[in-house]
Amino acid sequence: MKLAERYSKAQFSGMTKIFQAIEKLDNVLNLSIGEPDFDTEPDIIDAAAKAARAGFTHYPPLQGFADTRQAVCDYWKRHHGLDASPDDVLMTAGGLQVPYLALQALLDPGDEVILVEPYFTPYATQITACGGVPVCLKTTEENGFAPTSADLEKAITSRTKILLLNSPCNPSGRVIPRKQMEEFAAIAAERDLFVLSDEIYESLIYKGRHTAFATLPGMKERALTMGGLSKSHCMTGWRIGYAIGPTELIRVMTQISTSQTYGLNSLTQKAAVHALANHDTKLIERKNIFAGRMDSVAERLNKMKGVSCAPAEGAFYLFPNIRGTGLKSDEFVWSLLEKSRVAVIPGSAFGESGEGYIRIACTQSAEVLNQAMDRMEDFLKR
Ligand SMILES: Cc1ncc(COP(=O)(O)O)c(C=O)c1O
Repeated sequence: MKLAERYSKAQFSGMTKIFQAIEKLDNVLNLSIGEPDFDTEPDIIDAAAKAARAGFTHYPPLQGFADTRQAVCDYWKRHHGLDASPDDVLMTAGGLQVPYLALQALLDPGDEVILVEPYFTPYATQITACGGVPVCLKTTEENGFAPTSADLEKAITSRTKILLLNSPCNPSGRVIPRKQMEEFAAIAAERDLFVLSDEIYESLIYKGRHTAFATLPGMKERALTMGGLSKSHCMTGWRIGYAIGPTELIRVMTQISTSQTYGLNSLTQKAAVHALANHDTKLIERKNIFAGRMDSVAERLNKMKGVSCAPAEGAFYLFPNIRGTGLKSDEFVWSLLEKSRVAVIPGSAFGESGEGYIRIACTQSAEVLNQAMDRMEDFLKR
């Protein structure tokens, strides 16, 4: 067998290497995984079971059931003031399928995509796989891990087609302020960029409100909102995501998906109709739990020598600065795992701007998080 040239040197990402290492170790406190520790609520599971008994066991409509797409529109209108019709929505197999389909639909070979560091690792792989060129835009903690408008302008060339934004951000947990988003929107309009806005953590904002990029003036036709129920409704295993955007783009993305997934699991879609319409209170309850956990972990981290941690803004990640320990992020993380059995992700796995940081997912109980902080404290005293 001879693998395709483009995959012959394929490597697992810095994040996957940690996941694989954990599988071989006992007694690990795992703060590396980006999924809520809460199970899917029982009534959501019941909605899927009921749909199965009612005969929804066949191929779904390619773009998604009309009631599911309507439920997505209602949710975004209610929570974020986004006006969209079901024609503008495509249901996908997880949030991760959305950027892939969009990049396939939008990129010609050599087109550039501006990717803000530190970034969710699969974006870069997807851009390359779709024939594009990722242009990594460095950011700093001082600027909230968001580019300044001047930096963004500088990164734009005649080949730039797309700006990819992710707020609240995985891995930094930072939220781009609305004013800065407005500046980016003005640049996108002036330089004719399309914006892929990954808003999968929209329900997890600890200060102020989420700004849906597509609601900014002039952005509805220039932006694709990427979302899903994995994080908001604790449905990672159901593999449900969606895209909301210009009808023409949604049509082409749907067409591409027909030769891949041929629609999204019918039962998942029916469960989502129920979840999106009935779980707003639960979203707030869980957000408050995450907020409490993140505050306590940040407080513990800020007492550790060589570590400083900004307060949580969004998602469920903390991204503490560990430069004061004298260790590189990779060294810190692997040594912490080997010596103290606490798993986190090195910031460098998310691009060069993440060097000097680690990503801590506060997706474990307060008790486990506290125990992990005890271990980290001991590790740093050694
Ligand atoms: C920023 C971001 N976008 C998309 C996804 C993909 O989510 P899903 O599990 O629904 O595919 C994740 C998952 O970690 C994420 O962090």
